[in-house]
Amino acid sequence: MAGAPSTGADEARNDAVEAALGKLDLDAKTRLLAGQDQWSLPALPQIGLASLVMSDGPVGVRGVRWTADDPSVALPSPTALAAAWDPGLARRAGRLLAQEARRKGVHVLLAPTVNLHRSPLGGRHFEAYSEDPFLTGAIGTGYVQGVQDGGVGTTVKHFVANDAETDRFTVDNVVTPRPLRELYLAPFEAIVANAHPWGIMAAYNTVNGTSMTEHRYLQREVLRGEWGFDGYIVSDWLAARSTTGALIGGLDVAMPGPKTVYGPALAAAVRAGEVEEAAVDEAVRNVLRLAARVGVLDGAPAVVTEPPATVDGDALTREIARRSFVLVRNDVRDGRPALPLDPAAGTIALSGAAARDARILGGGSATVFPDHVVSPLDGLTAALPEGALTYTVGADPSTELAVAEKGFALAAVCTAADGRVLASDPLPNGRVQWVGSDLPDGVAFDELHTVEIRGTFTPRESGEHTFGTRGVGGLTLAVGGETVFEGEQGRGTDSDPFAAFFGKPTERARVELTAGVPVEVSLRDVVHKADDLPMAAVSFSLLHLGPQFDPDELIAEAVEGARAADTAVVVVATTDAVESEGFDRKDLKLPGRQDDLVRAVAAVNANTVVVVNTGSPVELPWRDDVAAVLLSWFPGQEGGAALADVLLGAEEPGGRLPTTWPAVLADAPVSDTTPTAEGELHYTEGVFIGYRAWERAGTTPAYPFGHGLGYTEWSYETIEATGTEVRVRLTNSGPRAGREVVQIYLAPVASADGAPTVERPARWLAGFASVEAAPGESVEARIPLPRRAFEIWDEESGSWTYVAGRYEIQAARSVADRRLSAVVDTEA
Ligand code: BGC
Repeated sequence: MAGAPSTGADEARNDAVEAALGKLDLDAKTRLLAGQDQWSLPALPQIGLASLVMSDGPVGVRGVRWTADDPSVALPSPTALAAAWDPGLARRAGRLLAQEARRKGVHVLLAPTVNLHRSPLGGRHFEAYSEDPFLTGAIGTGYVQGVQDGGVGTTVKHFVANDAETDRFTVDNVVTPRPLRELYLAPFEAIVANAHPWGIMAAYNTVNGTSMTEHRYLQREVLRGEWGFDGYIVSDWLAARSTTGALIGGLDVAMPGPKTVYGPALAAAVRAGEVEEAAVDEAVRNVLRLAARVGVLDGAPAVVTEPPATVDGDALTREIARRSFVLVRNDVRDGRPALPLDPAAGTIALSGAAARDARILGGGSATVFPDHVVSPLDGLTAALPEGALTYTVGADPSTELAVAEKGFALAAVCTAADGRVLASDPLPNGRVQWVGSDLPDGVAFDELHTVEIRGTFTPRESGEHTFGTRGVGGLTLAVGGETVFEGEQGRGTDSDPFAAFFGKPTERARVELTAGVPVEVSLRDVVHKADDLPMAAVSFSLLHLGPQFDPDELIAEAVEGARAADTAVVVVATTDAVESEGFDRKDLKLPGRQDDLVRAVAAVNANTVVVVNTGSPVELPWRDDVAAVLLSWFPGQEGGAALADVLLGAEEPGGRLPTTWPAVLADAPVSDTTPTAEGELHYTEGVFIGYRAWERAGTTPAYPFGHGLGYTEWSYETIEATGTEVRVRLTNSGPRAGREVVQIYLAPVASADGAPTVERPARWLAGFASVEAAPGESVEARIPLPRRAFEIWDEESGSWTYVAGRYEIQAARSVADRRLSAVVDTEA
């Protein structure tokens, strides 16, 4: 397999790269391979190279300052993007992100995440696309193409098998060659072949005994050798641990800096004869090629000189959200489906804490700060006639401290040891997270002694308010002018150096406050400056939790609202403490009393619609007792507007499940992500993850892979298939225009001879396409069947083997709802 076909511009870039490389001495070369700070590589003016800037990724472009005062467009979660089953839409999302990156001076986006949904417990499940490698590869391809259409690099991550978060720095994922190739490497391979990404990120974890940043076989032989990848390989943040191991293993760049295993340590290793300078040159070439592509190397033509047309961020975010919503249940009563609602008829009782305080994205490095958020309450209020909507909280899953936000007006005041104020910057919430050079203008880390989060808090409700902290250093918390906590918080013993960022919140004080009456709040942090810290960082947060009302009373209020209304809409959600980078989930339950709320509302209102606002699967024990269930994922900043579009029928929900939703965790094929005492996590299920495993076990999930309803009906009429293409004719037989995702599964038909000696899944996704049609209109979907769909990785020969024989080609609405099939006999 080869990389992108070479062009004249490629040659010009290669010439410029070689000329620049020739001018660098060993010290400059090794410096270029090490982060100079959290997000960038050093400029080398002697060769006309500007500093290359990277940024997370994947739902928005954070920019180099991880604060809320530098807003970014927040797209729906990657699970949502995948649920649209539309690589073209992913490409448009990518173009928007390139536009954001350019606006923020970012050259390389640290995205997409293409690890697989091996277990629903995976903490970054919301940040990856699917349990299926083909769908993941197709969406990732569109995304990478879109970002790079805009002249911005991508970093496909995390290479490879970073499918869970437990002990992510130390875990050794033990995977045999076949599942490694057929599942976990497959999306990376497809994206390299089809989108030619300019970067790959080496994961924290170890695979089969070798740390990924040092994995010579996977990085050099497979990724570069077999697949022809010609971009740069960057370590995940702090993942590189060995100077010679990483260089020999094929890692080009160690991030972040300034303390890394490359730079001076690498120059010394070359001088000591431990590694060849030629290997350094190779890595430098990869970085200079990236620099040339994004246009920061003088004399080299950038790949994109004219960025594509400007994208309207709000409009696209809203479109992706409604295209991603998956209507998993839409009960028909008296001939009428529960959804869409008629906006002109009747009243709606909305409940759920997330209906008011929308949860639009998942936690961790994927977090960005948008300049506005449309909650479900905002969206429905704007779309409905006055008086048609009532709102009650019903159940508040936020029984845990969260970053102070609603009602707080805060600033960060930085002072030197002598009390001089160095800077005072407004903060949009109670989080200070400055890493490396991200400090406010005018503040040098050496001089910085104390940071104080200071301001006022105007409570929304009267009662007992809880305040807390997250982060390290000497902390002093005051509320209403009174010191309520003073103490030292250390870093603890967690092996994850980011534990301080994502670490658990700690309660510090409870204070009685009155609604509408502002009080002063202050959290002072004497900055922790230990020598062993990998980088200069100030990371601490002021946390808050509102008064906890009697849960039964909250439910009773919602029930009263629902009883009086024509329709009840309940929004249920996970919290940041449940779904985030840095840890895996323990269970799939909705936190707090949300299940009780749904049951109680459904008991008094037959037209109860539940909106599930989570990035990953949760158990929905009441799912068959409500009129409709709509999964909205983490829907991005325009989520509430998109929700109104879909509930009220201006648009149909376009999503199909990219992942199986279990009824209960115990049914999920992989329901534990804890490594053994030796630190190993064995992928014992082999190629059987996701629907492949559900089908083998014969267990029925709550909702199968590929499932999702629209607002019209489709009749599948004919199928014609060869070994390379399928044509499906279908008609929109329902009442309104719509879009359908035609899914093609390949099911091997058992035969006595020629059958492979290894077990294969009952069927697997081999292609898909979406079609649009007006009522009564008939359309044809033409779907190519890739050769790879017929191949297995043969562990004996270490190669792909085409398995000739008889297959059923199935056209389906989900893996469990197969409408048509054709038999083909293939020959090698
Ligand atoms: C995450 C990466 C991210 C990096 C930089 C790491 O902890 O695993 O996905 O790109 O931090 O923020």
